Amino acid sequence: MTATDDMPARGEARAPGPTLHEQLLADPTPPDAPLLVEAPVFLGDEDLPYEAYNSPTYAQAEYEHLWGKCWQWACHVDHIPEPGDYIVYDVGPYSALIARTEEGEIVAYYNACMHRGTQLRPPDSCGFAGQLKCPFHGWTWSLNGDLIEVPSQWDFPHVSAESHRLPKMPVGVWEGFVFVNFDQDAGPLTEYLGVLPEHWEAWGLADRYIETHLRKRLPCNWKAAAEAFIEAYHVRETHATGQAGDEVTAQYDVFAPNVSRFIHTIGMDGPERPVPRTEEEMLAHLTRNIRHEMEPLDLPDGMRARDFYARLAQERMGEQYERDFSHLSESITLDSIEYFLFPNAFFFPGLTLPMVYRFRPDPDDVDISYFELLMMRPRPADGPAPAPPDVIELDIDDSYTKAAALGGLGRVYDQDTANMAAQTRGFKASLKRGQTLGNYQESRVRHLQLRVRECIETGRS
Ligand code: FES
Ligand SMILES: [Fe+2]
Repeated sequence: MTATDDMPARGEARAPGPTLHEQLLADPTPPDAPLLVEAPVFLGDEDLPYEAYNSPTYAQAEYEHLWGKCWQWACHVDHIPEPGDYIVYDVGPYSALIARTEEGEIVAYYNACMHRGTQLRPPDSCGFAGQLKCPFHGWTWSLNGDLIEVPSQWDFPHVSAESHRLPKMPVGVWEGFVFVNFDQDAGPLTEYLGVLPEHWEAWGLADRYIETHLRKRLPCNWKAAAEAFIEAYHVRETHATGQAGDEVTAQYDVFAPNVSRFIHTIGMDGPERPVPRTEEEMLAHLTRNIRHEMEPLDLPDGMRARDFYARLAQERMGEQYERDFSHLSESITLDSIEYFLFPNAFFFPGLTLPMVYRFRPDPDDVDISYFELLMMRPRPADGPAPAPPDVIELDIDDSYTKAAALGGLGRVYDQDTANMAAQTRGFKASLKRGQTLGNYQESRVRHLQLRVRECIETGRS
């Protein structure tokens, strides 16, 4: 492994063979325009210190400068459909009480009483309340945040409806997801979202409902957890399904400052696969390993497995959700397309891979985090969408396969968990005190790490 004169400049090297962009252009159905955008970045190649994961001081700085300042999705509009519905979102020491007012407006309050600080609603709770009453002495606010009752009012001449309103925090909605920001001086959500609204215009995330909601405790820092899902470089080793592994073609983009993306194709061999599969072998792989279906399928003459399988998926999902998906491109139907929104959210626009992720730190242990996984499905054409399901709680040792709705994906997610624990132990055991990243395939890891550092060093989100 030596550098030579004809090597590309640092950060410009790409895997041999066709690029993902070329693969998408070869599909019979043209992909949506955002999928053809390429935005690679080279952010340097120096090692990044492990201290970012396991230092309590660093975690404390994150609470102060990142979690207290950055926009985060707190819930979905379907969690609070009616006036009086509320839900609590917590991250570390922060807690937001999000409610729907009589007028149908979504508001978010700092979840603390204006009397002596008691949390108005318990962590992670949800429910219905006509008014917000503190459980300690009974001070009560309307859903609009007006102070409407103070028991023994005679003792509080210094308290008025005006002086002790419940303070609101910035709140915004994007495609059905309710975002909050604990910083009173936060900039607008739309600015923070960067390219997301434009890229997602055609993908109708607001037209989906939460079919499955799972929360799992993970054996690693929240950044290591997020980073386990941010590159496809690990697929060949961690998710190897055969002798030669399962190399994929992937494209990595960073849309500064807050968004990054990967797209990796499904149903096409990656450029580094030593012996390409025949189309029949590929179809068998798609049905068996990707979707865990056992019945053999016959590939029509002259058709690629990817195209055939995409049509099949559209038909099956169309029947299941009583919608017509036949206009969708092969890419949006099958591929793993993942948008990251700093600091902790991932959104997948695909038809068959329709996930949303969220990662949060454990306030008591830098080596523990919480991962939420939502499966978002098309809303029925007629009638209301099903209400959000109960959250399936999984502890560190619980297999994702306990969540039947994940199907074969459960086994794949399990393969990632083992890496997280091993990596966290290695952060401490390593003589080398930092990680070395691939310039292209791991550019999103570096983007995340540098954004965290930027928040801490500048005090700005
Ligand atoms: S602390 Fe809330 S009413 Fe006293
Ligand atoms: Fe993985």
